[in-house]
Amino acid sequence: MYPSATKLEGEIVAMTAHMLHGEAIATHHPADHACGVITSGGTESLVNPMLVYREWGRDKGITEPEVIIPRSAHVALQKAGHLLGIRVVQAPLRDDWLVDVAWVREQVNANTVAIVGSAGNYPHGLIDPIDELSGIALEHDLGLHVDACLGGFILPWGERLGYPVRTFDFRVPGVTSISADSHKYGYGLKGISVLLYRSDSLRRRQYFNFPEWPGGIYLSPGLAGSRSGGLVAAAWAALVSLGERGYLDAAARIFETAATIRAGIESIPELRIFGDPTFLVAFHSADLDIYHVNDSLIARGWRLNALQLPPGLHFCVTRPNTAAGVAEAFLADLRASVEYAKQPGLGTAKSGALYGLGASPSGNEALDILFTAAVDAMYEVAPEAD
Ligand SMILES: Cc1ncc(COP(=O)(O)O)c(C=O)c1O
Repeated sequence: MYPSATKLEGEIVAMTAHMLHGEAIATHHPADHACGVITSGGTESLVNPMLVYREWGRDKGITEPEVIIPRSAHVALQKAGHLLGIRVVQAPLRDDWLVDVAWVREQVNANTVAIVGSAGNYPHGLIDPIDELSGIALEHDLGLHVDACLGGFILPWGERLGYPVRTFDFRVPGVTSISADSHKYGYGLKGISVLLYRSDSLRRRQYFNFPEWPGGIYLSPGLAGSRSGGLVAAAWAALVSLGERGYLDAAARIFETAATIRAGIESIPELRIFGDPTFLVAFHSADLDIYHVNDSLIARGWRLNALQLPPGLHFCVTRPNTAAGVAEAFLADLRASVEYAKQPGLGTAKSGALYGLGASPSGNEALDILFTAAVDAMYEVAPEAD
């Protein structure tokens, strides 16, 4: 209907494939080439490939598909499993907080259709050993999806700047799809993500068509129906107006700020960093309740995301955080918040680990409200007499 929107979509896919080394596919899979679609966000960019791998598995005669994901992989994969009837198997993490590849290898069975790794994962911002997962995928002819929703538009620039970024893109021969959200570090508006495949034959498996409908012959490239050309245009505009120089400059500031924050946290004896992070720094504590630390940070105006299993906090560094003095102010408040959390008799922390709430004074307080409502409901709904 709108050729310009299709053109912009094609150009966004092409630029993203270039950034994630789509050209390398020709070296290890000469018959294939990078292609992709635009979706409404990270979640849709995870549900679509899971559909693709289920359908690929079905072609191989697999009727009870399984996908193995790291425990740290985004929960939208669980949602995909729920929607698509795929058994999602959670692989444990090693001491370095990366997926236990040996465990994944052992878990592969006749029903496995795909495995997943993240670059970087939401809780800790870390890059799984995609090169090692690739070996398993190639050996067993499995899909290997890399969830780079969060890191896809920042890690490539960090690598260019010389930071140690483990290779996770199409240079790794077993990678069959990558999701990268333009609405995160791509600086598009919310509602746009890029989903890349190693071949047309994979992408095709997410298409849906239904010729016999009174409304017309229906065909669609994926889960979504109508999509916003305005959001596509905004994502395109971000890419071409910032350009490589703009993304590099932003990444330079973000990696530098994250390094300052990481060093500051490492100097606080009560806190421990999860793994070896770059742009997102997550930390936990064996000595105190990290949610008490968060309560105090909230009171001081900070909004960090809270984690669980184990409890932790993460600071996902974005451009506004790179302003002069922000990292230093945060570290001063963090030190004060650790002192706050060390006080005896604080009781239950107010904040908890509800995903997506940032650090609004919710968490346990929100649970309190829910539980209270549940008990109220029990009293208000008169039980049937026996
Ligand atoms: C690694 C990762 N994957 C997927 C998602 C889901 O993205 P969305 O919220 O756009 O659906 C997120 C969101 O933060 C993420 O960090």
